[in-house]
Amino acid sequence: MTRRRISLALAVAVSTGLALAGCSADDGPKLSVSGAFMPQPVGDMAAGFLTVENSGGSADKLTSVTSDISDDVTIHETKDQKMREVTSFDIPADGTLDLERGGNHIMFMTLKQRPEKGDKVAVELHFEKSDPITVEVPVKETTYHPQKH
Ligand code: CU
Repeated sequence: MTRRRISLALAVAVSTGLALAGCSADDGPKLSVSGAFMPQPVGDMAAGFLTVENSGGSADKLTSVTSDISDDVTIHETKDQKMREVTSFDIPADGTLDLERGGNHIMFMTLKQRPEKGDKVAVELHFEKSDPITVEVPVKETTYHPQKH
């Protein structure tokens, strides 16, 4: 029995490795990003919003965000109209993580350049399990609010 457990553990380790190479026959998280936007910043900080959808069979976490426009990018939640930094956001299995106005968001401090409406800002999302995902985030007008459907 012990032996069988060990070979199972090995099989899991191997299939996890294959998943990184694009194997589809596993139960790991499968992430895709949609609806990304950044309101045109008015000062030297900016916010970013997007949705991460997980169609896979296990959960993941958004652990950090990096971008060329700022060396100080953090992830924030909003509670009682106050925002505070968090270390990660959960992305449930077969679920979504919504970063949206008034709620969870990405915060870019001390901008090195100020993006304008029509620009795209390259942002890299880092996860606990999945490979990083680079998103070209379109810059919208400062008051932009996407329609929910
Ligand atoms: Cu914030």
